This record gives sequence, C-alpha cells and structure tokens, in this order.
Amino acid sequence: MKFNKICILGLGYIGLPTASMFATHGMEVLGVDVNPHVIDTLQAGQLHIHEPGLGEVMGQAARSGKLRVAAAPEAADAFLIAVPTPFYEHDLGEYNGQPYKKADMRAVTSATQAIVPHLRPGNLVVLESTSPPRTTVDLLVPILEKSGLKAGSDFYVAYSPERVLPGQILRELVENARVIGGITPASAQAGCDLYAAFVRGQIIQTDATTAEMVKLMENTSRDVNIAIANEFSRLAERFGVDVWEAIRLANLHPRVKIFSPGPGVGGHCISVDPWFFVESAPELSALILKARQVNDSQPHWVVEKARQALGTLAGKKIAALGLAYKPDVDDLRESPAAEAVILLQQEGATVKAFEPFKPQAGLDGIQAVATLKEVLAEADLVVLLVNHTEFRALTPATLAALTPARLLLDTVNGWDGQDWPSAGFRLLRLGDGK
Ligand SMILES: NC(=O)c1ccc[n+]([C@@H]2O[C@H](COP(=O)([O-])OP(=O)(O)OC[C@H]3O[C@@H](n4cnc5c(N)ncnc54)[C@H](O)[C@@H]3O)[C@@H](O)[C@H]2O)c1
Repeated sequence: MKFNKICILGLGYIGLPTASMFATHGMEVLGVDVNPHVIDTLQAGQLHIHEPGLGEVMGQAARSGKLRVAAAPEAADAFLIAVPTPFYEHDLGEYNGQPYKKADMRAVTSATQAIVPHLRPGNLVVLESTSPPRTTVDLLVPILEKSGLKAGSDFYVAYSPERVLPGQILRELVENARVIGGITPASAQAGCDLYAAFVRGQIIQTDATTAEMVKLMENTSRDVNIAIANEFSRLAERFGVDVWEAIRLANLHPRVKIFSPGPGVGGHCISVDPWFFVESAPELSALILKARQVNDSQPHWVVEKARQALGTLAGKKIAALGLAYKPDVDDLRESPAAEAVILLQQEGATVKAFEPFKPQAGLDGIQAVATLKEVLAEADLVVLLVNHTEFRALTPATLAALTPARLLLDTVNGWDGQDWPSAGFRLLRLGDGK
C-alpha cells in the first residue's frame, strides 16, 4: 500500500518523533494534540519535551513543509494514535482483598472518536499506545465502525507497540524491530507498508492481540525482574551482604542476568503496564501483582534507610539529588524519586530536591531548587535518588565543598568506588548490609 498523508494523534515522547520521522521520509504529516500548549509551542518552532536530536529532526520536517500541527485531525491515508494510557489514580479495582490499578483509556477512546468523521475506505488506523489485551478489537474497532465502514474489509486496523528508549528514541525508532499486529493479515501488511518508510529493523507481522501482549510482556518481565532485585537488596541488608557485589558475582554465571535494585520503578511504562494484565485477569496475575507491590513499596525502603542514617527524620534537612524516574532523562512521571521525597517530608524532614534535566520541576508538594549548589547548602543528609551522569561524576572533594552534610545515602549505587571517608563522609548504600 502507498501512503501519502498521515495524521498522528498525540505529540508527546512517541508521537512527535514518529511524526517527524515520517515527515523527513517524504510523507505529508499532520500532528494533532489536544493540549493547546503543545500546539502553540510546536507552532512557535520550540519543543515541549526533551529528547536528544529531536529539535533538529523536527526543524528539518517543519522547514520542508511536510510536518504541520493542529488541534484536530483531517482526512488522511493513515491515522496513528500515540496518546497516553495511564492508570486511574484513585479509582482502584479489587480482587481477593488486594487493590489493583485500572487503565485510563479515555485518551485512546477520544482520539479514536476524533478519527471517525474523517475515516474513508482504504484507510489504515494504527494504535501505538500501550494498552490492555484486546483493546484494538474490543475498544477501537467498535468506535471506528460507527463511521458505517466495516473494519478489516473497508478499512485496516493494526496495533504496533512502541519500544523505544527515552534518550535514544530517534535511533531506536529506525533500528528496533517492530511488531505489527493486524485485525486481519491485510491490516498487518498495511501497517508493515506504512512503517517501512523509515524502519530499518525487522518488521514482524502478527495479530493485534498478540502484538498488545508482546508489549505488556516485555515491560512486565522487566518489572518482575526489578522486583526480585529489590527483594535481594532487602535480603542482603538482613544478612550483612553488599547486594551490588553479590549481583556482580551472580551475573558472572553465563545464564544469569539479575537486574539492579533501586528506589523503585517509575515512568510511563514499566510501573504502569503490568497493571493492564492484573486488571484484565487478576486471578491469573498473582506474581505480576506481587512484583508491582514490591516495587511500589521501595520508596518506603529509602525512607527507612534515611531514618537509619539520621536516627529521626523530624526536623532534619535533606538534599535529594534527582526527581526523574531514571538516569539522564527529564521524565518525572510516576517517579519513585519524587515519591521518596514526599515520604521523607511526611516523616518530618525538610527536603529540597534538584533535578538537572528539569530544574523548574513544578511537582506538587516538592520544593525543587534550580541548582546543585542550592540543594546542597544546609543539608544534614544527601540522598542520591537518580543515577544521572552529572551526579555520578561528583567527587568527594567537590561534594565536600558544596555541603555541610557528611552523611550520604546512595540508592542507585552511583557513588561506589570513591574514597568518601577520606573527605569526611559516611556513605550508606541501599542494599549494602556491610
Ligand atoms: N514515552 C515512552 O518512552 C514510551 C515508550 C513506549 C510506549 N509508550 C506508550 O506510548 C503512548 C504515548 O506515550 P508518550 O510518552 O508519547 O505520552 P506523552 O504524554 O508524552 O504524549 C501524549 C500526548 O498525547 C496528547 N493527547 C492526549 N489525548 C489526546 C487526544 N485525544 N488526541 C490527541 N492528542 C492527545 C497529550 O496532550 C500529549 O501531548 C503511551 O501509551 C505510552 O505508554 C511510551
């Protein structure tokens, strides 16, 4: 199939790079977003998100006249949906007395509805948003068929999960293998024809529900693996062992790959997607639920370590280094670092936080400061919450000059290997029972 014009709904971390990529590969692209700030910023030639290289690619796409942005969709050959699929914060489900989080599919629903008036015979609609199993067939198709057209015969529908790594999105969009699940083989083929415009990795065709499960299984297996690493770190502390050293030694085994413990699991994907299985089939997801519970409780473990370091947290001043959910990104969504800051405050500590990738981070209830100097002045304890390169590179001498604190809590193993005692520091590390 040949596609000349595509319309991409949702211009965030996934939709905007994808739109720019199609546009720089010769297609006419209309990017759509319901957030007026996103549209205004992009129309002014600025970016509302941080992703290396995106400014250049988007600028190139916009200058060529192939990429436009607007608040509503138009007729096109193909429609791509890349809108958020978070969970409801307060509307919890319950199975056997255990609460679980439920997917908030309102953005997918409204984006799909917005396509209906523009849907024409021969069009392709692709859902990229990570979604609970059967979303494509049970949610998308019935909405799209309100157009009066029949899915699978009059138009094509596919699900294609996005598996890029923030920080490397532009390279991975091109190089990663891409799974395309169609509601019919012809739909999968149409999806394949579309992405072949720029994807150089393998493109594999399957059915829509398999493609949905592939994405959820990838992130769920990572979540479960991180949960066991976190549990190992608790066990190591109990038995007087340094978990980081134990993991390094275990991973020398050719068939073992233990992940790293840390302050918890965050972001838009790994801390969210496993819930889609739990919600869809709680009676079959006991291990997945338990892993979520372990990882969600990890920020409490950080608080416990801080209490061990300081005795009591009440009235103590804490400098929190990092608020992002992982190193070297500006993404604060579902961040366990932010959760740890909130919990420390609830215990009576006064916490200042510094996030170098978002110095103006306006998170509710968190006092974020704009510089490293500011966050470190007047602290009793410095907690390393995110393994940003900038923090990892701090030497004992630099830190000693910037803070009166001589107590350090490293939750990500970023400061191992430096001679902290010589500069007067006591370093506690999460998972280090020695
Ligand atoms: N960010 C990642 O690294 C990543 C990786 C793989 C998969 N995903 C999945 O991709 C999807 C999108 O994630 P993201 O990180 O790009 O989200 P994002 O929050 O960065 O961007 C989503 C954009 O969609 C817009 N939007 C919301 N409702 C809309 C609607 N009805 N019509 C048009 N626009 C609408 C929002 O305003 C926002 O700008 C999610 O399902 C996510 O789980 C994300």
